[in-house]
Amino acid sequence: MARGELFLALLFVVVASALAANAAGARKTVDVYELKKGNFSVKVTNWGATIMSVILPDSRGNLADIVLGLDTVGEYINDTSFFGPVAGRVAQRIARGRFVLDGKVYHLNINDGRNTLQGGGRGFHKVIWTVKEYVGAGDSPHITLYYRSFDGEQGFPGNLDVHVTYRVEGPYTLGVHMNATALDRETPVNLLQHTHWNLGGHGAGDVLGHALQLRASRHTPLDDDMLPSSGRVAPVAGTPFDFRAPTLIGARDGQVMGGRVAGYDANYVVDGEPWCMMRPVAAVRDGASGRALELWGNQPCVQLYTANWLNRTRGEAGAVYGRHAGFCLETQGYPDALKHPEFPSQTLRRGQVYRHDMLFKLSF
Ligand SMILES: *[C@@H]1O[C@H](CO)[C@@H](O)[C@H](O)[C@H]1NC(C)=O
Ligand SMILES: *[C@@H]1O[C@H](CO)[C@@H](O)[C@H](O)[C@H]1NC(C)=O
Ligand SMILES: *[C@@H]1O[C@H](CO)[C@@H](O)[C@H](O)[C@H]1NC(C)=O
Ligand SMILES: *[C@@H]1O[C@H](CO)[C@@H](O)[C@H](O)[C@H]1NC(C)=O
Repeated sequence: MARGELFLALLFVVVASALAANAAGARKTVDVYELKKGNFSVKVTNWGATIMSVILPDSRGNLADIVLGLDTVGEYINDTSFFGPVAGRVAQRIARGRFVLDGKVYHLNINDGRNTLQGGGRGFHKVIWTVKEYVGAGDSPHITLYYRSFDGEQGFPGNLDVHVTYRVEGPYTLGVHMNATALDRETPVNLLQHTHWNLGGHGAGDVLGHALQLRASRHTPLDDDMLPSSGRVAPVAGTPFDFRAPTLIGARDGQVMGGRVAGYDANYVVDGEPWCMMRPVAAVRDGASGRALELWGNQPCVQLYTANWLNRTRGEAGAVYGRHAGFCLETQGYPDALKHPEFPSQTLRRGQVYRHDMLFKLSF
């Protein structure tokens, strides 16, 4: 499809979904919602359950948006850089876009070479979510977004109810709370939140000078297709993947390939048991601005991605994002777990509930 046709097709999808939602009497237009507490502000759109901006002071009192994004909701429809949305039904890559569950073969939408990436081309990042609850100000500003994923959507089995809540908790903490319920059939579920952070400000250049600490002594080595095909879980000690002590993101620049480009696109196994309890995952500090981020989560793994594919990409407010203009820390289950019985299962039985929580504790 040419880009123009693609845009028209997407526009049709938007209008058709809006009309369908109206028929059902639900509130389903696309809009921007701000969560504001003092001088901390988070903007979210229900297109893809996307975080558009996070505004925070630095140590000198200057406010900046510290996540990469686009100016208008309309631009997110065309976005291919994954600026801030939720990915699902099963995030990361599924080899050859197929899996077997209960003896049946499922074929998914293929959108990354031979494989399925982030739930398919029209995954949860490219759909309209319903705003269930919105409180923009006060003690605990929050928004709850809801999506009913239908049986067969992008190839996945069964109807699935999904909720994502973004909540300002404490003065400069953003909570992300996701759950999903398998309504009628067994299905795999693995969601993730894909915000690109730059603690210096979204247009402040690259993040190679940020110091990163990851509470992870092991990772799952990925092949050239970014798949954990060996099923190995390997120690990071003595490799350029080792961030157990705070280390500049750029300290080993060029030594690691995230697929076919330099940079990190790696899945780490988070230390600490049991993994379903909230625990510290990562800490990042930008010396220049004095801003810091601490991530807590309750998933077994975390993906570190250093925006390796950005290449003079047009961003918000006239900014141009180059390679490594941001970093993503995506808590998640093991990638391609359906193919690897040695990894914890991500399959929900009918009626079972998936829960995924993250806390981004910011400071300056
Ligand atoms: C942000 O708010 C805090 C708490 O009210 C205040 O101490 C600080 O000066 C404010 N900073 C800016 C840049 O507005
Ligand atoms: C989306 O892309 C199409 C095709 O390149 C373009 O015509 C359209 O203006 C874009 N939409 C937005 C909102 O940028
Ligand atoms: C999922 O989260 C939403 C929003 O917080 C909540 O209303 C709902 O009860 C939760 N579902 C389950 C099964 O816990
Ligand atoms: C970046 O984009 C330019 C222009 O489209 C292209 O020539 C160049 O090869 C790209 N660089 C990388 C590393 O992809």
